[in-house]
Amino acid sequence: MRTILITGAAGFIGSNFVRILLRRGEPVRLIALDKLTYCGNLANLSDLVDNTRLIFIRGDICDAKLLSDLWQQYSIREVVHFAAESHVDRSILDSGPFIQTNVVGTQILLDTARANGIDRYLQISTDEVYGSLPEDRPDIKFTEQTPLAPNSPYSASKAAADCLVRAYFHTFHMPVLITRCSNNYGPYHFPEKMIPLFVTNLLEGKKVPLYGDGLNIRDWLYVEDHCDALWAVLNNGAPGETYNIGGNNEITNRQITELILRALNKSWDESVQYVKDRPGHDRRYAIDASKIHRDLNWTPKHRFEDALKTTIQWYVENEPWWRSIKTGEYLKYYETQYLRR
Ligand code: NAD
Ligand code: DAU
Repeated sequence: MRTILITGAAGFIGSNFVRILLRRGEPVRLIALDKLTYCGNLANLSDLVDNTRLIFIRGDICDAKLLSDLWQQYSIREVVHFAAESHVDRSILDSGPFIQTNVVGTQILLDTARANGIDRYLQISTDEVYGSLPEDRPDIKFTEQTPLAPNSPYSASKAAADCLVRAYFHTFHMPVLITRCSNNYGPYHFPEKMIPLFVTNLLEGKKVPLYGDGLNIRDWLYVEDHCDALWAVLNNGAPGETYNIGGNNEITNRQITELILRALNKSWDESVQYVKDRPGHDRRYAIDASKIHRDLNWTPKHRFEDALKTTIQWYVENEPWWRSIKTGEYLKYYETQYLRR
């Protein structure tokens, strides 16, 4: 039985990853560490609380003593590091927590792993570290050789973490792996990010705030496909290597908005509000995922239109989950972010 530390396990992708591994009956014991910040939510794991192979610990990756204790107590040999401040818009309002968790937290986790021993360390990074692509050059995509050129405080903090991980491989020969994925969508996505925000706003009878001209392009991937890719990299990736993960599914924000409106029987004119653009808004992301396909035989299984419908239906059926989030602190953030735009 492998014991794996999963940081950020109560967030969107972390909770999906935990669920997939346990439901499939993989021979693992998962130590789920999460600080439960505004976006971490134990309800994301509520169907798994009785599973004896999941141990949840509320704690901060910046707490070196806690990390060392966990290593000793559970004989941790593998880490999948999801924990992060992950929302670009919040990093524009205040970058402090991003540097603390994404950079300092990663350094503390790496040092703890180095001091206590580690067989596999997987850093979950993002395509945003590569910056932005021109929209008139569809032939150009991000490869693992694309230079890092982060444009937001969020992506700068993720790029800094990637550089640290890389340095620990070269300097200390730590068995690290890095993945850089495009935009995910699916169940348990915090309803501040575009797809769950738009779906839940429409279910509440509100408008959706589309930034700028709505023509920014993202390469969307269903969260289960991302989790499958991560499992493949953790098991079979080569130490020191970086793997891009993407859906080969470039689409503009306007097109996504149209698909969501259609699924919920809403019209553009009654439901869409153009708002001031995000400062420094990256225009286009596109991933070349040929390396992970070639080396690890991974390819996405879900078609965007189908998985988007499944996702929308999940929010329709899980109204108590998102309604309980869209209160309190969330409302304060929503006002700061949108009401004066
Ligand atoms: P999320 O914001 O939903 O979850 C992050 C989790 O980390 C939360 O549960 C939060 O409580 C926890 N956390 C934050 N600070 C912590 C700390 N100091 N100590 C312990 N736990 C802490 O994010 P997500 O969308 O699930 O993203 C997970 C990872 O994947 C992030 O590293 C992100 O950069 C990366 N990523 C996300 C996407 C995407 O589209 N969502 C795409 C590519 C990469
Ligand atoms: O590319 C991977 C990244 O994807 C991850 O590293 C991040 O953690 C994740 O949050 C996501 O970042 P984005 O900034 O691309 O996601 P977001 O959902 O915030 O925005 C998606 C697009 O939608 C982007 O072009 C901005 C636009 N948008 C977003 C919001 C919240 C709007 O038009 N209106 C909105 O209200």
